[in-house]
Amino acid sequence: MCQKKELLIVIVSFLVPFCSSIDTISFNQSLKDGDLLISSGKSFALGFFGNSPDKRYVGIWYNNVPELTVVWVANRDNPVNGTSGILTIDSTGNLVVHLDAETKTVAWRTNVSSATKRADSYTAKLEDSGNFILFQDSKMDVTEWQSFDYPTNTLLPSMKYGIDKRTGLNRFLTSWKSLNDPGTGEYRYTMELNGTPQVFLYKNSSRIWRTGSWTGHGWSGVPEMSPRFIFSLSYVDNDTEVSLTYGIHDSSIISRMVLNESGIVNRLTWQESEQKWVQFWSAPKDPCDNYEHCGAFSNCNLFNLAEFECSCLPGYEPKLSRQWFLRDGSHGCLRKKNEEVCNNGEGFVTLSHVKVPDTGATRMNKSMGLKECEELCLKNCSCTAYASANISAGGSGCITWYGELIDIKQFTDGAQDLYIRVSASDLAQFSKNSRGHNRKRMIGILAGSAAAIILALSLACCLVINIRRNDNERSESIASYDGMDESKHTEISIFDLTTITNATDKFSDANKLGEGGFGSVYKGHLTDGQVIAVKRLSVTSGQGTEEFKNEVTLIARLQHRNLVRLLGCCVQRGEKMLVYEYMPNKSLDSFIFDKTKGSLLDWGKRFEIIHGIARGMLYLHQDSRLRIIHRDLKASNVLLDASMQPKISDFGMARIFGGDQMEANTNRVVGTYGYMSPEYAMVGHFSAKSDVFSFGVLCLEIITGRKNNSHKDQEKSRHLVGYVWDLWKDEKALDVVDPLLGGSYEACEVLRCIHIGLLCVQPFTDDRPTMSEVVFMLCNETNLPFPKQPSLIFRSENHSSVTHSSSASIATSSVNDMSISTVHGR
Ligand SMILES: *[C@@H]1O[C@H](CO)[C@@H](O)[C@H](O)[C@H]1NC(C)=O
Ligand SMILES: *[C@@H]1O[C@H](CO)[C@@H](O)[C@H](O)[C@H]1NC(C)=O
Ligand SMILES: *[C@@H]1O[C@H](CO)[C@@H](O)[C@H](O)[C@H]1NC(C)=O
Ligand SMILES: *[C@@H]1O[C@H](CO)[C@@H](O)[C@H](O)[C@H]1NC(C)=O
Ligand SMILES: *[C@@H]1O[C@H](CO)[C@@H](O)[C@H](O)[C@H]1NC(C)=O
Ligand SMILES: *[C@@H]1O[C@H](CO)[C@@H](O)[C@H](O)[C@H]1NC(C)=O
Ligand SMILES: *[C@@H]1O[C@H](CO)[C@@H](O)[C@H](O)[C@H]1NC(C)=O
Ligand SMILES: *[C@@H]1O[C@H](CO)[C@@H](O)[C@H](O)[C@H]1NC(C)=O
Ligand SMILES: *[C@@H]1O[C@H](CO)[C@@H](O)[C@H](O)[C@H]1NC(C)=O
Repeated sequence: MCQKKELLIVIVSFLVPFCSSIDTISFNQSLKDGDLLISSGKSFALGFFGNSPDKRYVGIWYNNVPELTVVWVANRDNPVNGTSGILTIDSTGNLVVHLDAETKTVAWRTNVSSATKRADSYTAKLEDSGNFILFQDSKMDVTEWQSFDYPTNTLLPSMKYGIDKRTGLNRFLTSWKSLNDPGTGEYRYTMELNGTPQVFLYKNSSRIWRTGSWTGHGWSGVPEMSPRFIFSLSYVDNDTEVSLTYGIHDSSIISRMVLNESGIVNRLTWQESEQKWVQFWSAPKDPCDNYEHCGAFSNCNLFNLAEFECSCLPGYEPKLSRQWFLRDGSHGCLRKKNEEVCNNGEGFVTLSHVKVPDTGATRMNKSMGLKECEELCLKNCSCTAYASANISAGGSGCITWYGELIDIKQFTDGAQDLYIRVSASDLAQFSKNSRGHNRKRMIGILAGSAAAIILALSLACCLVINIRRNDNERSESIASYDGMDESKHTEISIFDLTTITNATDKFSDANKLGEGGFGSVYKGHLTDGQVIAVKRLSVTSGQGTEEFKNEVTLIARLQHRNLVRLLGCCVQRGEKMLVYEYMPNKSLDSFIFDKTKGSLLDWGKRFEIIHGIARGMLYLHQDSRLRIIHRDLKASNVLLDASMQPKISDFGMARIFGGDQMEANTNRVVGTYGYMSPEYAMVGHFSAKSDVFSFGVLCLEIITGRKNNSHKDQEKSRHLVGYVWDLWKDEKALDVVDPLLGGSYEACEVLRCIHIGLLCVQPFTDDRPTMSEVVFMLCNETNLPFPKQPSLIFRSENHSSVTHSSSASIATSSVNDMSISTVHGR
């Protein structure tokens, strides 16, 4: 492929009457089918393309990506039949595609008015950014026309997207018709300026997804596209334009954003090592992304542990309760009857981490403060909600909603706060709940400090416990699962209690594999020879039998090569059990914390394990149909299959147990303390970023071969995270590497993993990367930001409760409910 292109360049330079460079066309010159323009840095090529000879298009594609990837098309709706097409600058100074040189029938033409200009002074140039520009020779700085102003389905870095208010130029994306037909398809991704600017994805004329408005960091509804680690975003909203430019911090990485034929916006990067495009992000992808999925005055929460994702906003109730009961939220909600919200002591309840409702009919004032904003909204009885227009300055600017609130989506972290108008009685009620939360928070802090003090006071005791825990907490071991085909949905089995009793020899001690956080695990042999692992749940799940089965069915459908496979369940005579495939290999902790078995894992294997866990977590957080927060990621919950591939277990337990029970349970498991993020330890708030924290700890444990809460090492007073941080800061990070690796590892790869681990354990949730960023950073050698110092509770245990507050993180309530936190009143 590459060779062929070299050849073409040679042909071009011989056959086409180009003077010096081959990245420009001047007046009187033309580009025939088969000729190519190559940009000066050899990044992009321009020429004719098309799978069938009777449909040829002029387009721009990557010159250095072997897989033909077209980023722009000129005559997309008007292909040339045959190879007679030419691209040239015509007598009016416009770029034009002619069907042939004789009849000069126009297939496509630029619209530069040239009444006063001399056509022969025009030149077109393919720049190394992928932009094809038309300019006058004498005025190279004045671009008359550029392909970047007329995007097709792709946005390249440095390409502006949005609206020029002076000229009315709207740069938006339209999909191709199909994979082989670049014609204008039915999907359109376009910015709209009504009210407060936001971006809509349309299918023909119906809205199917909305990004939300700009928060100052990113789109309100796309918190995972934070511009910190990998991509940059620059947003302009002034009198002349509203525009957005995507970039990538490491410009050596080839990246693009594309609206594909099935109406999905994809963010892709070219993975040189694998020679393929890798997806970093895509949208829309879950039901809550569907525009107005839940109807007016309701919130869509996929992390909701209840089975129905829609819930009415505070102060509202379902419009049609029967439909709502049948899980159809599309009719939305209405304000509760007899609720007085006009000059009657009303106030606002905060909804945290949400995509704010459709801003098409809002008012925005960029200079107003949040307090003034509240007053403004309170004064007008038809104002239903307000929010900050720019959260980056700690909340400035003001957006006010009048009437219906449509298309709200709940996240576990990121996004922004929305303040909803409620009556005095609702205000009192939510304020009571909120005080309850504060109490919970206080208890959390006390419990946290107590835990630290206990740990500090009982070093010797802990040592004993740790040794014992290493033995006991083996967790289940599950057989290697070869069918890695995610699309294969085997129906789950409901096992009979007798079958299970027989398989496990009446839950005999001989078959007991270990004691996990949720009960005991037994090995079992089914009569057909299959070996299973049975988790006998000791904690009552609080759910009825049918609900339990439903939940297990949903979770069993989650299939990924890095997740342990759930085969089914057994519910009978008050017993609840989960049945997994059995794996003869043990869990990760039995390897990495073991002096002899640890040497079986060389650096290559450990890196693969870190990578595999990251991919599994990414699947749970973003790619699975149920958005799942693990809440208890730790070494003993990662099992290894026969080829040492990691498989995450115990995911979805929060769904089975319900959030509170789950938390009560994990709190009881002392060892998990080391994996707890500060905001969870102190405030009880769990989010996807708390999982990221646990991942960071796990990553450091795999590299060092030490437990985070271990005290066996020399540095007795230090927790692993603080210990690694101290050495890393002094540029001695390689000192922490597990001595069992014997120095045989790629230093830069190890340092990179340590760096990523430290980024994950930063005290503030917003500073931590998302799992997709983690996966990207593991695969690409990009520059990483300097991590912030880990929270003190994880550095040393000689600190009293005072140090806890230094790590206080912004957090609200659990994701279990609607994340209602603070309350404003008059
Ligand atoms: C373009 O071609 C015409 C006819 O071949 C010639 O008269 C004219 O000088 C050329 N112009 C330039 C700028 O080369
Ligand atoms: C292209 O031209 C050929 C010959 O004139 C004709 O048979 C064919 O139908 C044309 N194809 C298209 C797509 O117009
Ligand atoms: C040029 O302008 C005409 C009329 O305003 C319009 O129909 C045509 O689509 C424009 N062409 C391009 C390439 O923008
Ligand atoms: C969208 O428009 C195209 C062309 O007008 C039409 O063929 C298609 O059926 C429409 N699709 C929908 C979903 O309305
Ligand atoms: C708006 O921002 C653009 C891009 O930064 C700039 O070129 C333009 O001059 C600005 N317009 C005003 C009125 O500030
Ligand atoms: C569009 O992108 C999505 C997400 O990456 C992918 O699943 C789908 O197959 C793509 N569609 C086409 C036609 O390539
Ligand atoms: C925006 O708010 C500022 C500060 O309160 C005020 O002076 C200004 O008049 C407001 N602008 C508009 C357009 O309402
Ligand atoms: C309240 O806001 C609405 C919508 O902007 C406006 O039409 C109405 O006049 C305002 N009412 C008062 C009393 O300011
Ligand atoms: C948001 O506020 C920050 C800090 O004041 C400022 O730098 C940024 O330009 C603002 N963003 C917008 C879109 O106004």
